Amino acid sequence: MKRAKMKIAVTGGCGYIGSHTIVDLLNAGYDVISIDSLVNSSETVIDGIQKITGKRIVNYKIDLSVENSWHELLEKEKDVQGIIHFAAFKAVGESVQHPLVYYKNNVCGLIEVLKWMDKASIPYLIYSSSCTVYGQTSELPVTETAVFGEATSPYGRTKQIGEWLLQDLFSGTTRKAISLRYFNPAGAHDSGWIGEAPTNPALNLVPVITETAIGKRSRFTVYGNDYNTPDGSCIRDYIHIMDLANAHTKALDYLIAHPNAPSYDAFNLGIGKGYSVLEMIKMFELISGLKLNYQLGPRRPGDAESIYADNSKAIKILNWTPKRNLEMILQSAWNWERHRSI
Ligand SMILES: NC(=O)c1ccc[n+]([C@@H]2O[C@H](COP(=O)([O-])OP(=O)(O)OC[C@H]3O[C@@H](n4cnc5c(N)ncnc54)[C@H](O)[C@@H]3O)[C@@H](O)[C@H]2O)c1
Repeated sequence: MKRAKMKIAVTGGCGYIGSHTIVDLLNAGYDVISIDSLVNSSETVIDGIQKITGKRIVNYKIDLSVENSWHELLEKEKDVQGIIHFAAFKAVGESVQHPLVYYKNNVCGLIEVLKWMDKASIPYLIYSSSCTVYGQTSELPVTETAVFGEATSPYGRTKQIGEWLLQDLFSGTTRKAISLRYFNPAGAHDSGWIGEAPTNPALNLVPVITETAIGKRSRFTVYGNDYNTPDGSCIRDYIHIMDLANAHTKALDYLIAHPNAPSYDAFNLGIGKGYSVLEMIKMFELISGLKLNYQLGPRRPGDAESIYADNSKAIKILNWTPKRNLEMILQSAWNWERHRSI
């Protein structure tokens, strides 16, 4: 598709998913700017993006949760045609301790982005949602029509509120928004130039595994081995970060090419298959030839036993296909860990 260099603003562009999505967008021919306060990232990621794509993007260091902080963009970036909104806090446990911080950053941040969209007449928005909106669902694989369950954390509730906000705001308008509900993004770009590098301690399983393998952590805990699953540990749907990134490009392509698309829609992004925590550990040990130091601990409050996606809607409507398997996820994550630890 000819994109005539359409300019896309990526909020949270220096973060994990944002940076990989920028690579995919640039490779697909979009122009990109990033808006990131760097609260959980570093601008060095822009060097990594340049090494991969040969293109240098600009980052605006703006805290989007601050009222009207986006005003300078009205002047400096008049030709933005779409926004992909990643900027948010994502640590479930922290959100339980500091709900107000999460509501302010995730909900007020989204409201500010919507105000900017309105003021600048930007027609397209892609919103980072999460499978956490389903709560403790018993529908497996879970489809987009499943009703939102009771959120298991303030973080989860901020994602539900975000989706409700978009539904209320976009229904019946000519502007369009899509929520992408991520399952468990993991892995890194194959080059090893970008990957998951939070400034806050990593909490997701794959970076915890690779950090233990490299010696940054002495050991880690598997939370619960008495779930009603084949090996007793929780089951999740792990999706390669580059497949996830590509779905954002596909979602934008879709909105641009389909003026009659619904003004609001939501899509699951997973590979459609679940793996247990212990299966992940075994697979990593096989790939790396290392023995991981971990202990079995009690269940963690708020963790769902098992969740994996029905991804058929994204495959059919967005013309998207996840191409990478679990082995490639772990291999690329391990490659990235070794690369950044040099
Ligand atoms: N990584 C996951 O497992 C996962 C799963 C489901 C949904 N999500 C969602 O995807 C999005 C991106 O997640 P990620 O893993 O890339 O996280 P990340 O922390 O790596 O990236 C988020 C980026 O946003 C920036 N940011 C945060 N608040 C900001 C603000 N107020 N103004 C400007 N910049 C701000 C941070 O500095 C960071 O660079 C988030 O909305 C998250 O909730 C992530």
